[in-house]
Amino acid sequence: MIIFDVVDRAGNLQKVEVPEEINLNLMEVLKASEYPILATCGGMALCATCQVEVAQGLENLPSPTDVELDMLDQLPKATPQSRLACQIKINENLNGAVFHLAAE
Ligand code: FES
Repeated sequence: MIIFDVVDRAGNLQKVEVPEEINLNLMEVLKASEYPILATCGGMALCATCQVEVAQGLENLPSPTDVELDMLDQLPKATPQSRLACQIKINENLNGAVFHLAAE
């Protein structure tokens, strides 16, 4: 299992466990876990409603693509720890990571 922590907008931390062979991205897993992620663009890095702050484990994630960086650049509240969950593939690199849902 891949296990990471998610902190919702109210500050509640929950462990999320997903099977290693799952072929999903973080946005899809968060939605499936009933977090309030709109994902209106369907994972195309166009809406930023899946924005998360990576409080731990950022160094283990692949670097953002130009498309993701372009979108993050447009977000006034984005920080160096900001990522779009739809652009993060679920794999063992996420073990131990901590993701905070970004404020709406
Ligand atoms: S779902 Fe739209 S940017 Fe991630």
